[in-house]
Amino acid sequence: MGEKNLDFDRVVDRRGTECLKYDFAVKRGRPKDILPLWVADMDFPTSSYVQEALIRQAEHGIFGYSDGQEAYFRALQGWLVRRHQWQIEEEWVLRTPGVVFAIAMAVQAFTREGEAVLIQQPVYYPFSEVIRDNGRRVVSSDLVLREGRYEIDFENFEETILREHVKLFLLCSPHNPVGRVWTREELRTLGQICRRHGVIVFSDEIHSDFVFRGKHLVFSSVEEGFEDFSIVATAPSKTFNLAGLQISNIIVQNPDLRHRLRRKIDCAGYSQPNVMGLVASRAAYEKGEEWFDHLLEYLRENLDFTREFVRQYLPDVKLIEPEGTYLVWLDFRGKGLTDAQLNEAIVYQAGLWLDSGEIFGKTGSGFQRINIACPRSVLGEALERLKRI
Ligand SMILES: Cc1ncc(COP(=O)(O)O)c(C=O)c1O
Repeated sequence: MGEKNLDFDRVVDRRGTECLKYDFAVKRGRPKDILPLWVADMDFPTSSYVQEALIRQAEHGIFGYSDGQEAYFRALQGWLVRRHQWQIEEEWVLRTPGVVFAIAMAVQAFTREGEAVLIQQPVYYPFSEVIRDNGRRVVSSDLVLREGRYEIDFENFEETILREHVKLFLLCSPHNPVGRVWTREELRTLGQICRRHGVIVFSDEIHSDFVFRGKHLVFSSVEEGFEDFSIVATAPSKTFNLAGLQISNIIVQNPDLRHRLRRKIDCAGYSQPNVMGLVASRAAYEKGEEWFDHLLEYLRENLDFTREFVRQYLPDVKLIEPEGTYLVWLDFRGKGLTDAQLNEAIVYQAGLWLDSGEIFGKTGSGFQRINIACPRSVLGEALERLKRI
């Protein structure tokens, strides 16, 4: 029958579906009719193969305890080989209800209260929330913006590890919100520094399928031996828009690290995944490739559209060119507004709900993150509204 959900221009009304993006504006202090381009999910229906697999499961009508079997693993393994040339083994995989949950478990497994966990701000804000919520200290080696591109200050990175006695580093690869797809050289240097100082690397690769320039490299396979001190987090949730189904695959090659992480997951009382998540992921990884390839092309065009719009109509705004992810980091510092003034203007003048840059860390001040994974007509309307600021 073939893939049916390839019309990414179609606007699907998400209101009234319990979705965070559209249904929680008032509860979260925004006007009711605000146009939301904040949280990182997409306004597109997933692959029709995934929908059909879920319908079959729903029609069966029994939703008892379930777990992933060999076919589930083969589907995941096939995807990682085809898309990332990475061959995994079944025993390396731990399943969790999400990547952020896995980060929290890793923070508990590999650090003690009061210890430092290293991040690179501006970065996906739950990193710092989870570190703080677990009584650990957030330490950032901030990325440096040079000629429109964010880079790593390796000297500062290493000094920070030494000064703060860092044991765990949370890498965001590709990086949300600045859109970097780290090069082999960058990852190698990071890994060598971490290895030298006994730092465990949690590599959050949830955005790894969304790459427009360069090539995503799985951290543990960048150099022989990196697998000994790394944890790689993957998920179908961004790739196939399945975040609400709560499933991710955390891949840990080193048996000792895997055992320690599994112990924490056990302590949290989590055992088997949600059956709908299992069914959806398997279908997605087995049959969703055509849908995803079309999606990626559509997102690339959305990015071209956004870049051109900003260049032509928003002279005080700079677009930081993303190499990956469907999130675009916009630099509003040319407007000369404080964060409070900028946020006020975005919400009340433009009628838009974006993610304000400063929540990603203090170096995010003056920026906003916009999610371009929506039909072009919606994106066009949002960008038009930015002219009002
Ligand atoms: C870098 C990054 N990690 C993790 C997540 C969320 O993962 P999960 O829903 O699996 O906890 C997101 C979602 O935006 C993200 O951007």
